[in-house]
Amino acid sequence: MRCGACRGVVVEVVILPDPGAVARFVADSIEQLLSTRPDVVLGLATGSSPLGTYAELVRRHRAGVVSFAAATAFLLDEYIGLPVGHPESYRAFIETHFAGQVDIDPRNVHVPGGTAVGGALEAACAQYEADIRAAGGVDLQLLGIGGDGHLGFNEPTSSLASRTRIKTLTDQTRHDNARFFDGLDDVPRHVVTQGIGTILDARHLVLIATGAGKAAPVARAVEGPLTSMCPASAIQLHPTVTVVIDEAAATELTLADYFRNTLAHKPPWQTVSPPPTR
Ligand code: GLP
Repeated sequence: MRCGACRGVVVEVVILPDPGAVARFVADSIEQLLSTRPDVVLGLATGSSPLGTYAELVRRHRAGVVSFAAATAFLLDEYIGLPVGHPESYRAFIETHFAGQVDIDPRNVHVPGGTAVGGALEAACAQYEADIRAAGGVDLQLLGIGGDGHLGFNEPTSSLASRTRIKTLTDQTRHDNARFFDGLDDVPRHVVTQGIGTILDARHLVLIATGAGKAAPVARAVEGPLTSMCPASAIQLHPTVTVVIDEAAATELTLADYFRNTLAHKPPWQTVSPPPTR
């Protein structure tokens, strides 16, 4: 099985046995995309969910299977106020786990907010939107999902039409992310994030979730009502979404068997489909 991305499918849910299979599946999608579009524009997520995928892509790069030399990347979000080089800044995260391990040109790795501080941040957000447009738009956007259903750092009640902007984190997100810092007090309160509208502009959304802790938000995003109280439910508005999850993250899906059957009985002519064209 290679890529589950199907044109015209509203939300395709791919349930795989474990996080390793999830990582390989998503890496397959990216490898397939790179084979036809070396100058791909990738939207990169941070957090623990895409780590396996990045490790798999790094492994394939070292094996000479994939090259990112012509690729461009736009990160989803970034903390405000962390010192340059702070290991938990998303710029450092992506450098450590992906960009610094493959042949992508560092000048082509973009982080929202850039190096702007204070009053310059708003202009940097507008510039980020312009930079994405100038690059031709994002071809494949990797996404995780927060415990409260956030997408990027779009917290509940974020406008579903929002663009890149400054947001304040909820207490839940700060608590969830405190495990990466020395303590809760060290977790920034403010962030820059692509908006939901920005994310929905990408040609293909790939949402990764693994583990029992993601079962409830995944069910809300896929099967719940479209609501800004669960920003990830906005994926239901997108024409080409692949939700790639392990069995543990699938336990609260009412239609889990339907999704398994769909995948198991997918006709060969539908299994591998071309990514949406630019
Ligand atoms: C963070 C990131 C999100 C990510 C979420 C889930 O808040 N801003 O982009 O999807 O956490 O993180 P994890 O994958 O570690 O569960």
